[in-house]
Amino acid sequence: GSCAVVIVAAGSGQRLGFGVPKARVPLAGQPMLLLAIRGVIKTGVAAQICVAITADDPELAVICASGAHEALAAGILFSVVDGGAERSDSVAAALAVVAQGVETVMIHDAARPLTPSGVFHRVAGALRDGAKAVIPALAVVDTIKTVEPAQLPATGAGVEKVVGTPARQVLRAVQTPQGFKLATLRQAHAHALTLTPSELAAITDDAMMVEALGEEVFVVQGSTHSLKITSPTDLLLAEALLEGPLR
Ligand code: CTP
Ligand code: MG
Repeated sequence: GSCAVVIVAAGSGQRLGFGVPKARVPLAGQPMLLLAIRGVIKTGVAAQICVAITADDPELAVICASGAHEALAAGILFSVVDGGAERSDSVAAALAVVAQGVETVMIHDAARPLTPSGVFHRVAGALRDGAKAVIPALAVVDTIKTVEPAQLPATGAGVEKVVGTPARQVLRAVQTPQGFKLATLRQAHAHALTLTPSELAAITDDAMMVEALGEEVFVVQGSTHSLKITSPTDLLLAEALLEGPLR
């Protein structure tokens, strides 16, 4: 069935700290969003690309116009929507413009502009093989602890203390694109409307919404190149990956 790729690009980029929407921040001279759009075009999986951007940002609109031009030249329908306050609102806005006849959708972060084609193909393959939901992920390299607030014994200084250590071998760090049967993701968004604000705030990715329906979410191999550019250090690493010998 035909596939739409949603690129969410409506975040503010607070942690990167450039004072402009992160999608506009250049990577080796190209805006992150344009690199993300080109990356999706190159995969060949998309019949439609839907981009959610910050409203009333003329520079982002110009970037989308370039992306639209390149997408249309590749025979891909291109749609742009205003994003929302939360990432899930931006996803919902984009889902509303998915074209008739589309059967599967991938939700992808503009902040992961170096995601290799192979990751998109692995997600598409699992959808073809009957998964209703599939996410790319990597084994966790650090030991992960759960913590709670605590005080140091002598001074009462506020710190944290360890509550537990989940077994690392069953932990995965999750990336995008996350792939879904369109009907399943739409059902998950409808279900999310029934949740309380605090339940909703606890949902940090698209797959969690589908998990809340009780559907199985399958996992395929992600890539270190799919890193999410969040902090200035990530930007340095991404530029090295894009331009340098690591490529
Ligand atoms: N995003 C979005 N709409 C929002 C929030 C986030 O479309 N309301 C998108 C971002 O543009 C990004 C992806 O979701 O591509 C992942 O979000 P994140 O890395 O947190 O980006 P920002 O929210 O922009 O960054 P920060 O949290 O540091 O402000
Ligand atoms: Mg954010």
